[in-house]
Amino acid sequence: MSQKPIGVFDSGYGGLTVLKEILHLLPEYDYLYLGDNARAPYGTRSFETVYRYTLECVEWFFEKGCPLVILACNTASAKALRTIQQNDLPRLNPSNRVLGVIRPTTEIIGNFTKSNSVGILATRGTVMSDSYRIEIKKFFPQVKVFQEACPMWVPLIENNEHLGPGADYFVQKNLQELFTKDKSIDTILLACTHYPLMLEKIWQFLPGRPTTVLSQGEIVAQSLSDYFFRHPEMESRCSKKGNLRFFTTDSPDDFDTHASLFFGQAIQSKHVDLEDYMAR
Ligand code: DGL
Repeated sequence: MSQKPIGVFDSGYGGLTVLKEILHLLPEYDYLYLGDNARAPYGTRSFETVYRYTLECVEWFFEKGCPLVILACNTASAKALRTIQQNDLPRLNPSNRVLGVIRPTTEIIGNFTKSNSVGILATRGTVMSDSYRIEIKKFFPQVKVFQEACPMWVPLIENNEHLGPGADYFVQKNLQELFTKDKSIDTILLACTHYPLMLEKIWQFLPGRPTTVLSQGEIVAQSLSDYFFRHPEMESRCSKKGNLRFFTTDSPDDFDTHASLFFGQAIQSKHVDLEDYMAR
């Protein structure tokens, strides 16, 4: 059977923070990364739009032969994953798999909190979907979940203003609003793959109490490794030459300039025209 790369998808750059950690743990595999930068951000868009955009990208990965696609985007995982898994996968390619970032995180988050109170920082789309509250309840019914949408964080990060003074106001405001919902929150999940870049500011404005702040990259990487252990039939369909390729639906020059901030090293991407591809 032919082996092909693992697909990693995000609306833009955020998924690179996840891919970085996956590579750290599983460097032997080949990966194709696609950022739908031309249509980002997804966080403010409707369910229908996020679903349609995500599905088009998943179809592109399948056309490239990827047997497994990881939606390294919370908004896409929250708004599109279930429908794609249930309705589209059987039609497109029943032996392929699409995995998200919400399940791996919600499975373990209850192990970090002592006060049984967890805060979720995410895009408006992810918060509106209520996916985190619903999923965490399944695994940890005793844990209370408080969510705060941070709609300004992605634009601040994408414009490289996240460590400047302009970010202070919004980080302080969103953290304050989260803790107003429940003072006993002791664990915060960065439920947007862009947000690890805000860590420095988050630490600066956290209230004086001990708080665990979780990013998803390592969690998703560990979960993929466990998945391969449980599903050797999928693992054996993934190629292992250590190759990495990057694609963006917008300008590759812009992508390469910004991407290193998220990925920690220089990147050379290629342009994908999804409209052209979908018209075929
Ligand atoms: N990185 C995406 C996420 O994890 C959000 C970015 C966007 O709004 O497109 O939710």
